[in-house]
Formats: sequence, C-alpha cells, structure tokens
Amino acid sequence: MRVAVVGATGAVGSTILGIMRERAFPATEVVPFASERSAGRTIDFGDKRLQVVALTAESIQGFDLALFSAGSGVSEEWAPQFARAGAVVVDNSSVWRMHDHVPLVVAEVNPEALAAHHGLVANPNCSTMQMVVALKPILDAAGIERLVVSTYQSVSGTGQRAVEELHDQALAVLEAKEIPKPAVYPHQIAFNAVPQVESFKAGDDYTTEERKMMGETRKILGAEEIGISTTCVRIPVYTGHSESVNVQTRDELSPEACRELLASAPGVRVIDDPANGLYPLAIDAAGQDEVLVGRIRRDPSHERCLNLWVVGDNLRKGAATNAVQVAELLNVRGLLSSPRPRGFAPAG
Ligand SMILES: NC(=O)c1ccc[n+]([C@@H]2O[C@H](COP(=O)([O-])OP(=O)(O)OC[C@H]3O[C@@H](n4cnc5c(N)ncnc54)[C@H](OP(=O)(O)O)[C@@H]3O)[C@@H](O)[C@H]2O)c1
Repeated sequence: MRVAVVGATGAVGSTILGIMRERAFPATEVVPFASERSAGRTIDFGDKRLQVVALTAESIQGFDLALFSAGSGVSEEWAPQFARAGAVVVDNSSVWRMHDHVPLVVAEVNPEALAAHHGLVANPNCSTMQMVVALKPILDAAGIERLVVSTYQSVSGTGQRAVEELHDQALAVLEAKEIPKPAVYPHQIAFNAVPQVESFKAGDDYTTEERKMMGETRKILGAEEIGISTTCVRIPVYTGHSESVNVQTRDELSPEACRELLASAPGVRVIDDPANGLYPLAIDAAGQDEVLVGRIRRDPSHERCLNLWVVGDNLRKGAATNAVQVAELLNVRGLLSSPRPRGFAPAG
C-alpha cells in the first residue's frame, strides 16, 4: 500500500508518521508531503530517511491512501485531486467534515459510517473527538438530551508555531525580558486563559471552534436533537485538551453506573479517586491514546445531569491516532480498493 502523508512536517503530520511506525501500519511506501518551503528536506522514518515532496499534479499519482493534515486550504484544493487519482483521503482539516457525502468518523464511536465513503473520510476536531469517545457509551445506555461543555485547550492544537509562541513568551516572562508580541493568538497566551479558540464569524458570538463542537458532535453521534452549548478556552498547556462536560441524560444514570460503563468502554480510561488526588491531567494524557475521564459526579442542580472531566492528547487521539485507526479500518474492511464514485466534491 502506497501512503501519502500530507503536512508531514507539522505537529499532526509528524505524529501520524510516529503512530504509523508504532502500530506497524502495513504501508509498502510512505511519501511525506509539505509546502515548497520544506521540499527536499529529509524525515527519519524508522531506519529510512524519507524525502519531503511538494504537491504537484504528477507527485500525487499512484497512492492508495492519503492522510492529510496541512490545513483547510490545502485539503480543499488537493484532497479531491488525490481522490480522483485513486487514493482514499483521511482528512484532519475542518473543510469537508460537515459535507453530506463525507463520513465523519471516530474509530470507537461510528466506524460503520466508513462504508459510505466516496473517496474522502473526515477526522473530527480534536476537542470533539475526545468528548464523543466518552459520550458514546452514555448515549447508548441512557440517551443524551443536552450537553454544556467548557474546554481548556492546549497550544499544540493550533500547530507548531503556537507551541513556539507559548515557549518564547513564557521564557521572556520568567527572565523579565520584553514579551514578544502575539503572532498566532489574539492575546498573550503565556500565564493567561483566552476565551477565544479560532475566530468569530461576522454576526456570530460563538467561535468557529465552538460551532464545530456543536455540529460535529451531533453528526458523529447521529443525534441532531441533542442540545449543545460550548465555551472553548485556550490555556498555556503544550499538549492535552481538558473539558468540563455536563451531560443531561434522557434516563436516570447514577455516577456509579456511569463510572462502570466508561470503565469498560473502548478507548477510555477512568481515573476517578478525587479523595486521593486522582483525576485526569493534561500532562498524564499527553503521549497516550486513551481518553481519560474522571470527576464523575451528580450535578446537584439536576437529577438527570452528570459532570465529567474529560482529557485527551489532541495530537494523538484528537488527530493522528484516529486518522491511523480509520486508515486501518478502511484497509481491513476492504474499503481502500473498492471502486466507488468520487462524488464528495465538485469536479474540476
Ligand atoms: N494540532 C492539532 O491538535 C490538530 C488536531 C486536529 C486537527 N488538526 C488539523 O490538522 C491540520 C494541521 O495542523 P497542525 O497542528 O499539524 O499544523 P502545523 O503544525 O502548522 O503543520 C502544518 C503542515 O501543513 C504543511 N503545509 C502548509 N502549507 C502547505 C502547502 N501549501 N502545501 C503542502 N503542505 C503545506 C506544513 O508544511 P511546512 O512545514 O512546509 O510549512 C506542515 O507540514 C489543520 O487542518 C488542523 O486544523 C490539528
């Protein structure tokens, strides 16, 4: 199987390459793509050195699979071209996620949606991804009527430049030097909490990240009726998004039953012994594929509401691990080679 990794020099792309190696992904050849700036650079991949290639009409030919993490603009232009050239694309950007003919898939939650792909599968937003892994068992057992979510999101969720921005600002603060002006974020991120993740579209007082969480959660869970309210906050953590999730179930679900349910759920690890200071932490989630859930407790203001604290590695399960899991599922289910109409995007 020939695999293209588009955005291979970035935060998600380099994690994808590492996870393909960890999971012994059955590729016969891996080609890393990035911008013209990186073309010719080499990347270590096990005992091989791979040369970074730029995207051209010729260089994208002959792939079975393309894993994209190079931003929405690159995906919008190049994912349909890879698909038309015969590859199945798994895309990490937001551009195709809500498209009717593009399955939005979380491996543990809705793998059955893959069967309907038309050459492109979308990977959800990182904060949505970890939340739905924790919510699916609750939805199946007790139904979900409403969610109130607040996120505490790490800077690697914005990419490599944001990690450097936090590092440089933090160093300047600690060394009492002049703080470099923010270039990635609208405000200083070091020693701060910024209630704006991504941007505000004209006339909307929710950010694009908050809107994504609302729309994508409903699409993945196949439950348009769920009410969702979100507030997304950027905090000065390198890796690992944390989320306070208030879940209103349809049927009664005790905290004990919820804990038991999640303890046996795929992709979830329950860490919930607050008396001994045990609960999920971003620094513990970083580097892990499991979604950590703790602080499971009754909302004292509502008999059918529970509060959860959900933490995940945004680069791994939030992006790269799920993309590789989806690729594995496409492969073992024979969904890479089957000829199918490439109808997800306008031709051209
Ligand atoms: N970070 C996360 O936690 C996360 C989670 C879920 C989804 N995502 C999504 O994944 C995508 C990548 O995010 P990231 O955090 O990895 O960003 P990043 O660290 O900024 O990396 C961006 C990658 O895209 C490449 N690229 C940029 N312009 C290109 C072009 N014109 N042609 C080909 N390649 C180009 C860059 O190559 P150069 O090195 O040559 O510039 C780099 O490899 C975004 O769509 C993001 O929304 C990110």
